[in-house]
Amino acid sequence: MMPMNDAALLTPGDYADAVTAAVRAAAAYYTDGATPLGDDEYDALLRTIAAYEEAHPDEALPDSPTGKVAGGAVEGDVPHSVPMLSLDNVFSAEELTDWAAGLERRLGRPVAAWCVEPKLDGLAVAARYRAGRLHQLITRGDGLAGEDISHAADTVLGLPAALAEPVDVELRGEVLLTREQFEHANEVRTAHGAVPFANPRNGAAGTLRAKDRPYRVELTFFAYAAVGLESAAGRDTAVGADTAVGLDGDLAHSALLERLAALGANTAAATAAHPRRCATLEEAQQRIEEIAALRSDLPFGIDGVVVKADAAADQRDAGSGSRAPRWAVARKLAAEHKVTRLLDVEWNVGRTGIIAPRAVLEPVVIDGVTVTYATLHNPADITRRGLMLGDRVFVYRAGDVIPRVEAPLVDERTGDERPIAFPESCPRCGDAIDTTEQRWRCARGRNCQAVASVVYAAGRDQLDIEGLGGTRAVQLVESGLVTDVADLFSLTREQLLGLERMGDTSTDNLLAAIETARSRPLNRVFCALGVRGTGRTMSRRIAAHFGSMAAIRAADAETLAAVDGIGAEKARVIVAELADLAPLLDRLAARGVGTAVTAPQARVTADAGAGEGPEAEAEAAPVAGGPLAGEAVVVTGSMTGPLTALSRNEMNELVERAGGKASSSVSKRTTLLVAGEKAGSKRAKAEELGIRIVTPDEFAVLVADHLPQG
Ligand code: IVH
Repeated sequence: MMPMNDAALLTPGDYADAVTAAVRAAAAYYTDGATPLGDDEYDALLRTIAAYEEAHPDEALPDSPTGKVAGGAVEGDVPHSVPMLSLDNVFSAEELTDWAAGLERRLGRPVAAWCVEPKLDGLAVAARYRAGRLHQLITRGDGLAGEDISHAADTVLGLPAALAEPVDVELRGEVLLTREQFEHANEVRTAHGAVPFANPRNGAAGTLRAKDRPYRVELTFFAYAAVGLESAAGRDTAVGADTAVGLDGDLAHSALLERLAALGANTAAATAAHPRRCATLEEAQQRIEEIAALRSDLPFGIDGVVVKADAAADQRDAGSGSRAPRWAVARKLAAEHKVTRLLDVEWNVGRTGIIAPRAVLEPVVIDGVTVTYATLHNPADITRRGLMLGDRVFVYRAGDVIPRVEAPLVDERTGDERPIAFPESCPRCGDAIDTTEQRWRCARGRNCQAVASVVYAAGRDQLDIEGLGGTRAVQLVESGLVTDVADLFSLTREQLLGLERMGDTSTDNLLAAIETARSRPLNRVFCALGVRGTGRTMSRRIAAHFGSMAAIRAADAETLAAVDGIGAEKARVIVAELADLAPLLDRLAARGVGTAVTAPQARVTADAGAGEGPEAEAEAAPVAGGPLAGEAVVVTGSMTGPLTALSRNEMNELVERAGGKASSSVSKRTTLLVAGEKAGSKRAKAEELGIRIVTPDEFAVLVADHLPQG
């Protein structure tokens, strides 16, 4: 945060510039949503302005955004019966504690209870219902009057045309694009030749005001308050409900939200971040942390967590200022969208020959992490987004998600931007590029990246060939001895001894490691192939489902789609990949790799599973009646005790050996979470869903009979 004395050092000219910049940003933010500033920068600018005005109260400019709803940037012509206020912000747990102490001082008593809820990142609207029927939708405007946007009502989900009862009530809440709606909106827009929305909030703002679009974009409403339509007199805030909703004015906020849901309005109640009544501020702080941890898993964007005094009496006695209520505050979270400059685009060739564009950015800090690179998906996506080098762009990063470039700020262009050049030949080997799919690929496919493919195949969770790292793989490939993973299994002692730095010991060790790898179970061999769309988890499922490489190879898309987590599209890709890999698979089979057969979980064709070869390690197929039978298990955090050395894949294999089903994300179907140290959002989510949580040590006891030997 900008400290006071820094702001006090501003010259009057700097201050005036800051006011101009903030007014301009607020106008863009609250109208078309295309702000030239990120949310964090806007908040910081406002704090600087406020600090300067506190130090120089006589110099405050009349158009300063401080103390005004929507920064004073917007107006409307439909008066609000009760002002639609904004919220004050705090940026840390300490600031929240101070704020709560201030509120309790003002009340002269402790706050009875708090309600903690997500701060939805959209636009505030008021929906007026008469006799239970929706008759007008209004924006917040300047807080006193808004704009009539009733034309948009039927594109907003969560705002029923009729409520469950014939009440007169004004629902207040946020209209936003869920992540799914945002993706869909951009597909529809680009299909119509329009520029994609830079971020969901921007899209919601643009969509609410748009008229006569040739396409439809759906939004979602979440209610977080209500006011009576007739009985507003004497009330200064949108607090509680009143007789208009058939309840008395003493309804606590959390109870009001339940009532609104019962009337048929959409609230955040059904989401993991649902509002929660907390008896103490400590509990409220904990709930804030929980909601923050859930952030990247929520179906919509949030920019903070709102803490409200829950009791109607506390709200009434605290009252409101001209801009914000005194009984509620927003604990802001770091923005997930930031604006920076696109400096360059790099084209990298992946393990499977995919040529992927990567954005080089002017470094920007997003939620505490400096982001310099971001994904650009594929060439078609670049074209769709209309990106150019030198553009100012919105970059998105949330949780563990790989940062991505969302869209250019077209209005900010200077004319110096340059088109992005697409490669005409493979940037790695110079061969032709196959551009028939959305994702471009070197015509040599995975042979373009033999070293990377071999290193991946030899990795710990695949064939686990000790001593075969990057340097050795480069040596083997460059010497011409190895072109793919199958070649490893026909290497001779003489060939290896002929290489530089390969003495007797290293040669024997490597040969022994390769020999051990020859009998790895099917899931490991399948994973080693690096089939697009399949990682470790999917490889285990496929292996357990089919039982043999022959059965996998015989499967068509429809059969593959019977495996949990494989949809029609992925099934199609896997079939194509396996066809592509047929010569390699033949050579692996000839060398006795991946030929083990186990009883498949599914019935497969009679000739499938007729592999021959040496005895292989037992497949990690679920064991009926094992200690985890019927359990859906997720492992998170770092393992300790007897499990310390196990990789995540080995943990998942262990789960399956013990009869359970391993999965990587927590959902309603999860029954057990193994939470090691530094377990983050998965733990929060499991707690939220009431899922049983055990430590690695407790888990080790549970599955003691199935632990790996040695
Ligand atoms: S309460 C008088 N609750 O945040 C009550 N606002 O930055 C004022 N917002 O204008 C609003 N989620 O557009 C409230 N759960 C929530 C909210 C929320 C998002 C928005 C709302 C408000 C803005 C203030």
